[in-house]
Amino acid sequence: MKRACIIGYPVAHSRSPLIHNYWIDKYSLNGIYVKESVSHETIVDFISSLREKGYVGGNVTIPHKHVPLQIAARVEPEAQAIGAANTLWFEDGQLIAGNTDAYGFITHLDEQVPDWRADLPAVVLGAGGAARAVLYALLRRSVPEIRLLNRTREKAERLANEFGPAVQVADWQTRSGALAGCGLLVNTTSLGMAGGQALEIDLAALPSAAAVYDIVYVPLQTALLEAARARGLRTVDGLGMLLHQAVPGFARWFGVRPQVTAELHHLVAQDILRG
Ligand code: ATR
Repeated sequence: MKRACIIGYPVAHSRSPLIHNYWIDKYSLNGIYVKESVSHETIVDFISSLREKGYVGGNVTIPHKHVPLQIAARVEPEAQAIGAANTLWFEDGQLIAGNTDAYGFITHLDEQVPDWRADLPAVVLGAGGAARAVLYALLRRSVPEIRLLNRTREKAERLANEFGPAVQVADWQTRSGALAGCGLLVNTTSLGMAGGQALEIDLAALPSAAAVYDIVYVPLQTALLEAARARGLRTVDGLGMLLHQAVPGFARWFGVRPQVTAELHHLVAQDILRG
């Protein structure tokens, strides 16, 4: 039996087991995907001995995404550029660390809004780990200008220095005006999450062809997406990104490239609704 896991701390909330075990079942594979709660003290040992523990690979989540970069025999270019790894597997017995967040982000966008305007500026809100994956993905598509706005401006400046001149930093207070002439708005902040603070932004300046992408997926329909829909704009939810980022890891561990289906989307959405 092939075993894979999600490594985090805490990890109880993770929906990855639901996704991967659904696919294992669907494709009648002899495998299992489990949660591994691993603290800071033991994370290096744990990842270093993943193979000895009987795993063919796994996912890494908060707060350990930077750890594989120091341990892996090879770090894939995406993981290096984003500064975090979320997927581990073995090649010739060697540990490889990759990042599938940028892939999940862009694949879901292409699927939901195939004609999204990569030739227009984009606005990205936030400068945390998720923002790094989004910047990487958009720059790979040659988006000419990314307006990056974050409550703590210095964090945005740091990202702009790293990712190059296409990333233009603006003040968090100017976020509604920054939408003028843009083809895409992406929220990577935690604003709008269930039980948290709201994201206050006026979408009036967004052109009518623009798409609005919220990577927050609890709740599934955030106030941002509702406001975008009310304005007649195309919207992209964060759950699809979560589902798509799981595909490359599963394919490496179990040898089958799984489909992100409406049935899987419904299964995970129901789980989110249950809380
Ligand atoms: P992730 O890895 O998911 O991106 P993170 O690194 O904790 O998570 O980043 C959270 C983002 O949400 C940050 O951009 C954060 O802004 P700061 O860099 O100023 O902390 C943003 N964020 C969280 N709470 C916010 C709030 N009340 N107002 C504005 N931005 C907020």
